Amino acid sequence: GKKAIIFDLDGVITDTAEYHYLAWKQLADDLGLPFDRNSNERLKGISRMESLELILEAGNKELGHDEKERLAHKKNEHYKELIQQITPDDLLPGIVSFLTELSEAGFKIGMASASKNAQEVVRRLEVTSFFHVIVDAASVKKGKPDPEIFLTAAQLLEVEPNACIGVEDAQAGVQAIKSANMFAIGVGEARHLSEADWLVTSTEELSLKALSEHI
Ligand code: BG6
Ligand code: MG
Repeated sequence: GKKAIIFDLDGVITDTAEYHYLAWKQLADDLGLPFDRNSNERLKGISRMESLELILEAGNKELGHDEKERLAHKKNEHYKELIQQITPDDLLPGIVSFLTELSEAGFKIGMASASKNAQEVVRRLEVTSFFHVIVDAASVKKGKPDPEIFLTAAQLLEVEPNACIGVEDAQAGVQAIKSANMFAIGVGEARHLSEADWLVTSTEELSLKALSEHI
């Protein structure tokens, strides 16, 4: 049976995916580059610099290293401002009860987030104690869709990948879970997350009972 569950953060535990979008949107608008919610889907789950490079590429804009660093920093400053307002009220519906059920059922619980702001967001949400391990961008070499971040979390939890479940809202994230040989729960729309083993449209649908019907 499954012994561990590894959650993505942004867009799964809380709606910071929206804050990332808003921060990129402002930057793209300032630069006069095209950017909308649809193009934003490709940015979910991937690193800050890779996200910037995709935005520049879509707008046929080439910039030097220093200018890219400056823009990535600027986006992050805006993002950090947005996450100041996060409180436990910002946990997505059903998340606390799902985490509680999982921990009572003896699941090991991990987090695999590509964000360098992960610790700060988890702290503000006041859910740190649910997680046995939090793996973030700083501790891995390759980002999603590479499986490294999920495999690292599994290793730290001391659970074989095939006994792990991953939860993701990003296409790159679901790909990472599947490449890690784990069961993938997708949160979002089928057109972005077709590879998920179980797809929910909202975190409200997540419960131990519903999960047991899928694994
Ligand atoms: C991921 C988000 O969790 O973290 C991406 O889905 C984001 O949108 C990435 O770009 C990196 O985040 P940060 O906070 O390090 O810029
Ligand atoms: Mg996400």
